[in-house]
Amino acid sequence: MAPQDTKSTSRIAIVGVGQVGGAVAYALILGSATCELLLVDVKVDLRDAQVRDLSDVAYAAGGTVRVRAATHHEAGQCDIVVITAGSKYSLGETNIQHMHRNVSVIRNVVKAMTPFRSDAIVLVVSNPVDLLTSIAQEVSGLPKSQVFGSGTFLESVRLRGLLADKTGVAVNSVQLSVLGVHGSSQVVAWSSATINGIPLHKVVPSDGFGHDQLAAECNERAESIFRTKGSTPFGIGSVVASICASISFDRGDVQPISHFQPEFGCCFSLPVVIGRRGIMKTIKIPLEAEENAAIARSAERVKNVMKLGS
Ligand code: LAC
Repeated sequence: MAPQDTKSTSRIAIVGVGQVGGAVAYALILGSATCELLLVDVKVDLRDAQVRDLSDVAYAAGGTVRVRAATHHEAGQCDIVVITAGSKYSLGETNIQHMHRNVSVIRNVVKAMTPFRSDAIVLVVSNPVDLLTSIAQEVSGLPKSQVFGSGTFLESVRLRGLLADKTGVAVNSVQLSVLGVHGSSQVVAWSSATINGIPLHKVVPSDGFGHDQLAAECNERAESIFRTKGSTPFGIGSVVASICASISFDRGDVQPISHFQPEFGCCFSLPVVIGRRGIMKTIKIPLEAEENAAIARSAERVKNVMKLGS
């Protein structure tokens, strides 16, 4: 495993550089997780403006990251390709309309990047992320371990934060995963939650603690931001930069990430080890029967969405 503070030699492409792609780029530059950032967008004026604006970020950060415009083909030759195209909801757009639009966007952008460099990692961020990850796997022709989605990592970060606030401990002392399908059918693995390794129920009594209310607050958070801003750029930007750092520095971090589940025939999030070759292995998390059943229901929903999206 490489030391965490070495300089990154990874070239990272961001496909779709609106609010979400811009925030991913900003977090990547400040986190020094890349040496060269390639920005790709069909809106050429937007892309070029983002190159100039983000180059200023790179200069302010010490000038070690080069930011430039690129084609889809060049993106497919990078170490990591982050796909955020279509992240923002258009005014008045329903979830179904957004899904149909993004299915076609992802098919087109992934196809435009083929053939990929054989060891490229593709990270899908656009929603519905679990469905779009399956499509990117199919169209890219890359091994499934190299194509995955940001999934419920962001919800996990959100809920860890809410729980840390509630219990008065540092967020890094909270171990808790949100699993399943990203969005409203996410499943909280409460039974495996710990505070610094001590089971949560031993630290705070479960009665009156308000698990359900915290989970609902986590679930509602994205919607409440979408309603006003149309996207959640800073939260997802930080999470994506963290995944890219796990890959670039071959860290072996364990996080819930959307990946192919052979048992269910679709993609959703369970904990995996993330490194330079993508998903290195899956981690079996001990869950209660009701949590497993909720994950199976969550998988059914993504399969229904797959039927709608195909
Ligand atoms: C969110 C978006 C990324 O949950 O779906 O903020």
